[in-house]
Amino acid sequence: RIYPDSRDASVAVANEIARLIRSRAAESRTAVLGLVAGSSPVDVYAELRRLHAEEGLSFANVVTFNLDEYYPMSAECLQSHSRFMHEHLFDHVDMVAENIHLPDGTLQPECVADYCLAYEQRIEEAGGIDIQLLGIGRTGHIGFNEPGSGTDSRTRMITLDGMTRIDSSSNFFGVENVPRRAITMGVGTILQAKKIFLLAFGEGKSSIIARTVEGELAPSVPATSLQEHPGAELILDEAASAAI
Ligand code: GLP
Repeated sequence: RIYPDSRDASVAVANEIARLIRSRAAESRTAVLGLVAGSSPVDVYAELRRLHAEEGLSFANVVTFNLDEYYPMSAECLQSHSRFMHEHLFDHVDMVAENIHLPDGTLQPECVADYCLAYEQRIEEAGGIDIQLLGIGRTGHIGFNEPGSGTDSRTRMITLDGMTRIDSSSNFFGVENVPRRAITMGVGTILQAKKIFLLAFGEGKSSIIARTVEGELAPSVPATSLQEHPGAELILDEAASAAI
């Protein structure tokens, strides 16, 4: 879907999320959201905050699972995805604290594998993800699934690509401060979501978006795995769609 600008696109996505939350609330059921940090979803979260403040959208029946986190990373750290989510959404709406799930960047390395398995189980116990939001990195990563991540990959620790670390460097005041690893849901985990919205805005995303849409499905560009998901949609502005 190509929108004139990112704001229109973000409002449309927020409205679809709000529709899901309200329809589930009417049936006394939960809505399970897969959420992402980064610049791409900022306006979606802003619109959800507005819908909560001005139109009474309640998040009391919402369960969330975040996609990824740097490793190691403390939750309070300026660059943590946990802090990002609290600042942009969770602290402004009536979420139940126990319904928020964020990958933990503070674990001892030997605990990570079991933790990742438990994260997958919690998603399953929640009934699976209804709507998954994604961004995309210049390497074609979704979450932190760097090139080489296959469609069967699950939640795990991953080593970040050099390009991803360079792209994150301004947030960390220098590439040498960017963690070398991350915990991410796998491509296989993402593909189990019922509906997926990949958000990409701006000219900088245009070439990887063209490869995602027109390239061969291959682990070298993990985002191409979305080609086979019947409920996956790319939400673009005109600049991001320019090379298609
Ligand atoms: C990061 C995250 C992704 C995110 C992507 C794009 O590295 N791991 O989950 O979607 O890069 O970020 P942005 O939306 O800021 O362009």
